Amino acid sequence: MQVFKNSNLVISIFIAATIAIFSMGSAHSASLEVSDCAKCHDQQPAEIDANGASHKTEIDCQACHASHRPKVENNIPSCNDCHEGADHYAVDNCLGCHNPHQPLNVKLAGELKAVCVSCHSSPAKEMEAAPSKHETFACNFCHADTHGVIPECVECHSPHSETMTQQNCGSCHQAHQPLTLTYSATTASVLCASCHETAYNKLTSSQAKHSQIACVTCHADKHKTVPQCSDCHGQPHAPGMHNKFPNCGDCHNIAHDLNNWPAEAK
Ligand code: HEC
Ligand code: HEC
Ligand code: HEC
Ligand code: HEC
Ligand code: HEC
Ligand code: HEC
Ligand code: HEC
Ligand code: HEC
Ligand code: HEC
Ligand code: HEC
Ligand code: HEC
Ligand code: HEC
Repeated sequence: MQVFKNSNLVISIFIAATIAIFSMGSAHSASLEVSDCAKCHDQQPAEIDANGASHKTEIDCQACHASHRPKVENNIPSCNDCHEGADHYAVDNCLGCHNPHQPLNVKLAGELKAVCVSCHSSPAKEMEAAPSKHETFACNFCHADTHGVIPECVECHSPHSETMTQQNCGSCHQAHQPLTLTYSATTASVLCASCHETAYNKLTSSQAKHSQIACVTCHADKHKTVPQCSDCHGQPHAPGMHNKFPNCGDCHNIAHDLNNWPAEAK
């Protein structure tokens, strides 16, 4: 019966080995898997699922939360474990703006400037180059609440006249340099009229050809530029005459209201 005994032994060894393998198996299944997290935590898996962005597609819970209490006291990662090397990753208080489970739903609280400049350097440079009261504000004084929002000037300021709208502000002002007044060759004269009513009324009621010319054709590019008549006309009369009467206005009156001589008077 040696054979039986031996075969019993073989069977016992087989059973023991099987049990050992099974118990190894069950020891393995006792370790925490990503699929387990949702059994106890509702909120974070739901947030990641809806808005996890790269934190959903590129990594999983355990890439950030290695192990768990009570085995480890602290399983909360630092953002800089994975994000390093850009100016933006050196700012303080990542969690003040980012929820790690919905990293792109950025919340903008407090008065922010340095952190915006970590990605947008040109607005701050523009502001420093031409200081104004706007420069003294936090970026999110205007770009409030949600990242990327652009406010309208008229949310805070009244237009210069009743006919002027938000669409017009940009023809003379830049948001980050509001005191640098420039305008293009297509800026309508009626926009200047909101502050220069007299000039506008004189010019538009004049019979002379200047009345067909836009304000910005003569007062070009930059506010308060005043042209010389000779910029456009040179010295049109005989040299002796210009020497004797150096001011064009002595005969022609002002540019907005040129004397309109009848043909026979000429
Ligand atoms: C069996 C239930 C259970 C499972 C499964 C579970 N947790 Fe927890 N988790 C808890 C409890 C309970 C706490 C609170 C522990 C405490 O306050 O000491 C907790 C706390 C945490 C914390 C907070 C730790 C801190 O310092 O505040 C994190 C992070 C966490 N779990 C992540 C995970 C992740 C990731 C998974 C999946 C890999 C997971 N948990 C699976 C029950 C669970
Ligand atoms: C990109 C890294 C990252 C990923 C991925 C991540 N977490 Fe977190 N988690 C954090 C950080 C950081 C905190 C600490 C948040 C805080 O203090 O406001 C945290 C906090 C927690 C907490 C504690 C409760 C709380 O909100 O403070 C739980 C529970 C948790 N995470 C579970 C999960 C689960 C479950 C997953 C996967 C579905 C997951 N986390 C994925 C980084 C991550
Ligand atoms: C375990 C590594 C890891 C940790 C810790 C981590 N991240 Fe990430 N995060 C990634 C990876 C990988 C990406 C995708 C590639 C990239 O943008 O660098 C990413 C992308 C992001 C994105 C862009 C998301 C997108 O889809 O464009 C933001 C925002 C972000 N992380 C913020 C944070 C913040 C804030 C923390 C700390 C609370 C943090 N991350 C912690 C790995 C991590
Ligand atoms: C004051 C708010 C604020 C703080 C603080 C902040 N961020 Fe951001 N972060 C943003 C904004 C706004 C974006 C742009 C989001 C977008 O493109 O929609 C961003 C984008 C990112 C991105 C994705 C774009 C990229 O550069 O890859 C990562 C990663 C990121 N932040 C990581 C961090 C880390 C790490 C910290 C802390 C060291 C941090 N952030 C602190 C506001 C903040
Ligand atoms: C991590 C880098 C990052 C940070 C930090 C960041 N931004 Fe952005 N921002 C971007 C990117 C990328 C875009 C989209 C691309 C673009 O239009 O330039 C954007 C777009 C914008 C836009 C819209 C631009 C347009 O033309 O429509 C505004 C306004 C803006 N950001 C303001 C801010 C302000 C204010 C802050 C600080 C509270 C900030 N950003 C922080 C990267 C960032
Ligand atoms: C007084 C309000 C105000 C302040 C303060 C302000 N902005 Fe703006 N910003 C605007 C307006 C209005 C626009 C739209 C300009 C346009 O359409 O010509 C704009 C445009 C932008 C844009 C998109 C176009 C561009 O110029 O690149 C970015 C990015 C931006 N701002 C970032 C910033 C940052 C960063 C700060 C802080 C350093 C800041 N802004 C401060 C009002 C403001
Ligand atoms: C969120 C509100 C806000 C927005 C949007 C805004 N401003 Fe202002 N702006 C102000 C405040 C506040 C002042 C300072 C007023 C004061 O002290 O009298 C100011 C001042 C100014 C000044 C005078 C600057 C100085 O230094 O004296 C000009 C010009 C101006 N804004 C034009 C604009 C234009 C043009 C826009 C749109 C491109 C705009 N603002 C958008 C709030 C705003
Ligand atoms: C045709 C050019 C022009 C347009 C268009 C224009 N502005 Fe002005 N704005 C000026 C000039 C010039 C000044 C400076 C006046 C001065 O020196 O007193 C000024 C001054 C300002 C000031 C500061 C002084 C004050 O009145 O409080 C604000 C604010 C302002 N503009 C807002 C706006 C807004 C908002 C719009 C769009 C609705 C706008 N501007 C459209 C030319 C313009
Ligand atoms: C918001 C009001 C405002 C608007 C709009 C405005 N101006 Fe003026 N402008 C002024 C003020 C204020 C002065 C200074 C008056 C003074 O010095 O007596 C001025 C002065 C001038 C001067 C005279 C400079 C000098 O040496 O006497 C010219 C030229 C001028 N503006 C042209 C224009 C033109 C062209 C436009 C339209 C593109 C325009 N302005 C729009 C307010 C404005
Ligand atoms: C930006 C250019 C420009 C400036 C500056 C300018 N003019 Fe003219 N002027 C014109 C144009 C264009 C005409 C029309 C020519 C035509 O249609 O034949 C004109 C026409 C005239 C005429 C003929 C008027 C008529 O109705 O027949 C006189 C006179 C004149 N300008 C005098 C002046 C005087 C004086 C000044 C200075 C106070 C001046 N101009 C400044 C461009 C200018
Ligand atoms: C043909 C060129 C021309 C046109 C068009 C023109 N101007 Fe003038 N403007 C001048 C000249 C030249 C002066 C200097 C005074 C003079 O010699 O007549 C002047 C002076 C001014 C002044 C300062 C002195 C004053 O009269 O208050 C203002 C303000 C002004 N212009 C605004 C305007 C506005 C607003 C418009 C459009 C409605 C306009 N100008 C159209 C050429 C022009
Ligand atoms: C002594 C008076 C006087 C002075 C000074 C004077 N003009 Fe004249 N100008 C006239 C008379 C008169 C006419 C009309 C004669 C004609 O149609 O030939 C005239 C005509 C013009 C015309 C219109 C020509 C045409 O073909 O319609 C222009 C342009 C002109 N002047 C520009 C100027 C400029 C620019 C100056 C200064 C540099 C100036 N004038 C100085 C008397 C003068």
